[in-house]
Amino acid sequence: MLAEERTFIAIKPDGVQRGLIGEIITRFEKKGYKMLAMKLIQVSEKQAADHYAEHQGKPFYPRLVSYITSGPVLAMVVKGYGVVEGVRHLVGATNPMNADVGTIRADYAQMMEFNVVHASDSVASAEREIAIYFNEDEILDTWKTKTEELIEEDELL
Ligand code: CMP
Repeated sequence: MLAEERTFIAIKPDGVQRGLIGEIITRFEKKGYKMLAMKLIQVSEKQAADHYAEHQGKPFYPRLVSYITSGPVLAMVVKGYGVVEGVRHLVGATNPMNADVGTIRADYAQMMEFNVVHASDSVASAEREIAIYFNEDEILDTWKTKTEELIEEDELL
């Protein structure tokens, strides 16, 4: 049985400005993932530097930081069984040119710099990134999705 885990997803300024918030959230919701937290934020320089620490020093880093801080970002915490890998499948490859047809990046993006959405690449990254953008008291895990109910019932059989 896959474990339940949390992931961090951000709809980047290009996704927000192009009116894609609804389209993108719908894909995660329809999959049955649990929305634990969601807020529209202005990413600070400090949050951007913490989030993208692994890319510091790379040629694209200055543009990455200036872009992610250039406009509103929709930050989300999402929970589900194998959700880190599952969300990355729905999002598609970092470079939209290589993203599978039907993924968010293949459907809505043309280039790496403006790839519409960010999703954590591991459970450890997810927890690190969640802590950059959310306090635990903003994360609402006090309810059950249908998937959780079905799986809990199944485990009792
Ligand atoms: P994201 O999932 O937000 O994680 C880091 C981001 O850096 C990535 O999406 C891309 O938008 C960007 N990125 C990664 N590699 C490159 C690259 N070689 N050139 C330009 N941007 C990149």
